[in-house]
Amino acid sequence: MAKIKNIEFKNFRNFANYKKSFDNKVNILFGDNGSGKTNILEGISLMAKGRGIRNSNIYNLIKINEDNFLIKNSLEIENNNTNITILSEKKNNKYKKVIKINDDISKESQDFLNKSLSYLIFVPEMERLFQSSPSYRRNFLDRLIFSSNNNYNKIINKYKKFILERTKILKNKPYDNDWLNQVEIEICSIGLEIYKLRYSQLNSINSNIHTLKNDHKFQFNVELKIVDNFYDNVITLENYSSKLKESRFYDQKYGVTKIGPHRSDITAIINNNFDASLLSTGQQKTVVLMILLAQCNDLINYKNINPILLFDEIGSHLDSYNRQILLDMINKFDIQFFLTGTDKNLFSFVSTNANFYNIT
Ligand SMILES: Nc1ncnc2c1ncn2[C@@H]1O[C@H](COP(=O)(O)OP(=O)(O)OP(=O)(O)O)[C@@H](O)[C@H]1O
Ligand SMILES: [Mg+2]
Repeated sequence: MAKIKNIEFKNFRNFANYKKSFDNKVNILFGDNGSGKTNILEGISLMAKGRGIRNSNIYNLIKINEDNFLIKNSLEIENNNTNITILSEKKNNKYKKVIKINDDISKESQDFLNKSLSYLIFVPEMERLFQSSPSYRRNFLDRLIFSSNNNYNKIINKYKKFILERTKILKNKPYDNDWLNQVEIEICSIGLEIYKLRYSQLNSINSNIHTLKNDHKFQFNVELKIVDNFYDNVITLENYSSKLKESRFYDQKYGVTKIGPHRSDITAIINNNFDASLLSTGQQKTVVLMILLAQCNDLINYKNINPILLFDEIGSHLDSYNRQILLDMINKFDIQFFLTGTDKNLFSFVSTNANFYNIT
């Protein structure tokens, strides 16, 4: 698996020209608001598929008044140095991201990079995970699945495409029945796959939290649950497809697809008693950290994947429970961390040889 050795940014966000080297273990980036800490994590996260931790469009990554950005990161993968170049490219008035691995853009190289990289991400918005929208929670869960299955985004994108297609077909009166049947078959098979992957991801988090309880005293019990008014574990393709057919009339009227994994929500039950949306923001951060610790444990101990942790603004809102979870991750796992906060002192509890970088 990859470790990040050096980064070099040219005209990326607020950086005209910026270079930094990092340590294989704990890297703490501190500095004033607006100094560029999140941008650095973003520049690192862009090596994976997708649009980075902010899910920003590519155009916004280019430094204002410049034409393009260029990122050159070097990774250590199985003791070899690998150079990753990421650049923006304008085509037909649209910007896209291009990644080169040792100057190569072949599919084999991309696959090699994707296989070598896995990120676990914390962003401050997650402190309100259980008070934000269901789609935010689904994305949160989907990112966890993606951390061990880098083809998952393809599945999700395909599903979204077919849902859009279905809505488009239903808009026509009369609609093309054969085409609609075809599209619904695709929706059902991909939809079932997504349901299954999400359930298995959730079960793995729950069971890892349970295992970790033995040597970690958590503040409370957490049990994640999927809330879905349609799916249960016995639903078959035939079932699914006939339910979709049944809802055609409704869906045509409202321009939606009423059932499917794009309608699920995720909740957490605290102490077998109440919903996590009742927790304070600091406590929601605890739940998120518990989930990330559980996922870390699963990736490393059961899936042979060493993730890189990108935890943005993790320094604030850390009471003794949250600190203990973070310390657990640092002490337990031999993986690379990037932690950010406005002040160096916020991290004084990290006593192991952490490396501090003042971002100015
Ligand atoms: N495309 C861009 N061109 C130039 N500057 C940009 C661009 N996009 C963002 N910035 C600026 O980059 C600066 C750093 O942003 P960043 O979010 O990384 O700060 P931060 O160090 O994480 O701050 P905070 O502690 O508030 O989270 C901001 O002042 C922002 O306005
Ligand atoms: Mg920031």
